[in-house]
Amino acid sequence: MSNVTNVAVLFSGTGTNLQALISAFQSNKFEGAELRLVVTNKKQAGGIEVAKRAGVDLVILDDEGKKGKDWTYDQILLQSLEEHGLSPSNGLILLAGFMRLLSDEFVRLFRWKILNIHPSLLPAFRGSSAIENALDYGVKITGCTVHFVDEGIDEGPVLMQAAVPVDENDTPASLLLKIHKKEHEIYVASLGLLLQGKVRIEGRKVKILK
Ligand code: GRF
Repeated sequence: MSNVTNVAVLFSGTGTNLQALISAFQSNKFEGAELRLVVTNKKQAGGIEVAKRAGVDLVILDDEGKKGKDWTYDQILLQSLEEHGLSPSNGLILLAGFMRLLSDEFVRLFRWKILNIHPSLLPAFRGSSAIENALDYGVKITGCTVHFVDEGIDEGPVLMQAAVPVDENDTPASLLLKIHKKEHEIYVASLGLLLQGKVRIEGRKVKILK
């Protein structure tokens, strides 16, 4: 059996994290891993162009705005992953702005094989308006978090975080730019550590091995 980890990136939006991950794959940063496919649930997602430019296999499973956990949808996703050689035993799924909740069944199947990136220092500002909420709250420091996905929303064990200072004249757009820059760094770094076998989950905590 081969030891290659087959990776899928799931996205819904502009795809800047997708781009950062693809660039890292293209510059051979991840030994023993292959980016097998990227998947979006939005047929208008900007990231589609990113995937096409890179020549990566792209699957569009448009959910037409239907929200909520849905095992039926996830079974179709599962089939697409399997068709690209990705299974719970050899696969890793990276959520990069995938604005759709995965069902508990799917999360259980891929237990600790799914990562997410979130634009705040979790557990602060969970949910889909993290940047606006941090600005409205008036925090002086926010940031981003890479975490394992469990059945909760933005709740699983934290793998890596980076801080971003908030300036008084920051707008959602300017703060987003600063956070994105850090996100790209920590997502690539997190994946690198995981693929090197340096990540161990102990309860809620993630240990990074030397
Ligand atoms: C990122 O800020 C990520 O933290 C959040 O969704 C955003 C996706 O941005 N989950 P992009 O599509 O990678 O540019």
